[in-house]
Amino acid sequence: MSKLVVGNWKLHFDLEESVSLAKEIGAGNKGNYITGVAPVFTSLASVCKENAGSKLRIYAQNCHWENSGAFTGAISPRVLKNLGCHGVIIGHSERRHVFGETDEMISKKVAAAISEGLEVILCVGETLAERDAGNANATVKAQLDSGLSNVSDAGIERLVVAYEPVWAIGTGKTATPEIAQAMHQGIRAQLIAWNNKAKSVSILYGGSVKPANCKALLSQPDIDGALVGGASLKADTFLPIVNSGHIAK
Ligand code: PGA
Repeated sequence: MSKLVVGNWKLHFDLEESVSLAKEIGAGNKGNYITGVAPVFTSLASVCKENAGSKLRIYAQNCHWENSGAFTGAISPRVLKNLGCHGVIIGHSERRHVFGETDEMISKKVAAAISEGLEVILCVGETLAERDAGNANATVKAQLDSGLSNVSDAGIERLVVAYEPVWAIGTGKTATPEIAQAMHQGIRAQLIAWNNKAKSVSILYGGSVKPANCKALLSQPDIDGALVGGASLKADTFLPIVNSGHIAK
């Protein structure tokens, strides 16, 4: 599976700032990990254009499941592909919990984006209440089951899963490497039980990943990379993660 680190810029940066930070990241990246960034929609065209031919992968943060029609405010997988986006993040916890996206919507988006040729980073993760109630594994399992339900055999190679415990996103609280590894191991087993081809799917960890904790997390056997929010907003904090070394597995 690929070793991948993606910066999710969420609702940060205007066009110029996005282009300039993408350039800085591209220039400082030593290539230890495949690296990507996910700017806001309105910056995607320029960031894709400026980085055409470079190794930096550009991702969107969301998309709709239909390619055209009466869907005011929506962005389709096809327009993202045409812009030169490599992939799209789907089912981020902020999409689920702030914007009310359901497992069903997310599974339709996953299938639509994959069939347009985009890589999909499917995010799963439990809330603190779900973890405290002993339901972390069941929650993640159900989200993953649903997210995979429309993925074809041929689409598996364009699938990445990101485990992001909601209680660790933007809170400064990171899952310990042991907690994260245990969940990643379960996700890997579930993927393989679903389809043996899915043994090559990369599983990223996300939730307050920063230079100080990235090595301990990324050295876990089932953590293949990271989805990084806050620490991806500055080259000074993102590059040390991206350049933290390729850990042999
Ligand atoms: P964080 O965000 O690194 O700021 O916790 C991660 C994410 O939301 O993907």
